[in-house]
Amino acid sequence: MTSKPRLFSGMQPSARSLHLGNFASALTQWNQMQSEYDAYFCIVDLHALTVPQDPEQLRESTRRTAAQYIAAGIDPKASTLFVQSHVDAHPKLAWILNTITGFGEASRMTQFKDKAAKQGKDSASVGLFAYPMLMAADILLYQTRAVPVGDDQKQHVELTRDLAERFNSRFGRTFEVPEVMTLKEGARIYDLQDPASKMSKSSTSDAGVVWILDDPAVTAKKIRSAVTDNDREIRFDRAKKPGVSNLLSINSALSGKGISQLEEEYAGKGYGDLKGELAELVVETLTPIRNRTLELLADPAELDRVLAGNADRASEIADATVRDAYEKVGLLLKP
Ligand code: TYM
Repeated sequence: MTSKPRLFSGMQPSARSLHLGNFASALTQWNQMQSEYDAYFCIVDLHALTVPQDPEQLRESTRRTAAQYIAAGIDPKASTLFVQSHVDAHPKLAWILNTITGFGEASRMTQFKDKAAKQGKDSASVGLFAYPMLMAADILLYQTRAVPVGDDQKQHVELTRDLAERFNSRFGRTFEVPEVMTLKEGARIYDLQDPASKMSKSSTSDAGVVWILDDPAVTAKKIRSAVTDNDREIRFDRAKKPGVSNLLSINSALSGKGISQLEEEYAGKGYGDLKGELAELVVETLTPIRNRTLELLADPAELDRVLAGNADRASEIADATVRDAYEKVGLLLKP
């Protein structure tokens, strides 16, 4: 048993690769935090099913996501790195949380509203609507203290806190109430071609998304072709200069330099310098991760073995929480 506080986070295996937004805001934080926390890093494949997926592609993307976690620095011996569908407790607790969530409350989730609007109201699934309660279950099963995510996930973690408090007050203390953790700089990375929208696995323009597994030459070209503006000044201003601000955020997230330091360094320089140097920084950061991912993927049996062992470790804790929650709400437990 460890006395370190718990951390839980996850990503959807819903594309052929993770992208720079996932890396800059989430994986970077995970790496910084994993030694101080008893960390659980999940590949949330059940969440990925809330929008249509190709079955073979989803299986492949699940392994790829695991390989990218490890390649980016997550140590599967020190942290518990597992696939959500390998631990039955997740959908079980999600069901219980569905029963204490208000329809109006779930309808207010902005991610649901955005995704449902994209798909058309009638084709959006009930699973998409229930997505946040499955996410709450992920977090609450492990008595999680810290949830490091990008800032687009804050609202879901707020809902998780509300559900934990509601359950605890109705049925007696069962869940730790978690805290959301976001980075100060780079908590949200935007699309390089459409800097009003966040960089997303489901983006329609591939040119706006930097994939970790892209060829380095493709990555460099995407950064150099990022949209900026007709001005010449390099300064952070999300409203007036979204493209330039995004490039500064990415630089800050990867280099660790503050935005104002970068503004000073680029005073008097042009957009060509900003983009060229950022292209180099991104390629330098992502290339070793890409190479290590490809090595890990060459031995899928070993990867599957690691994931299975980690899922057993996760199940021990998650099963105990579900049993407790089942008992508290009045379900008759199987002896
Ligand atoms: P997903 O797969 O969409 O995103 C994974 C992580 O990447 C962050 N992120 C971004 N950060 C900055 N800029 C962007 N453009 C960007 N796009 C994505 C997300 O904030 C997230 O941290 N619902 C979660 C997955 C999940 C989860 C959980 C997370 C399921 N259960 C429990 C934490 C705890 C999600 O959207 O993943």
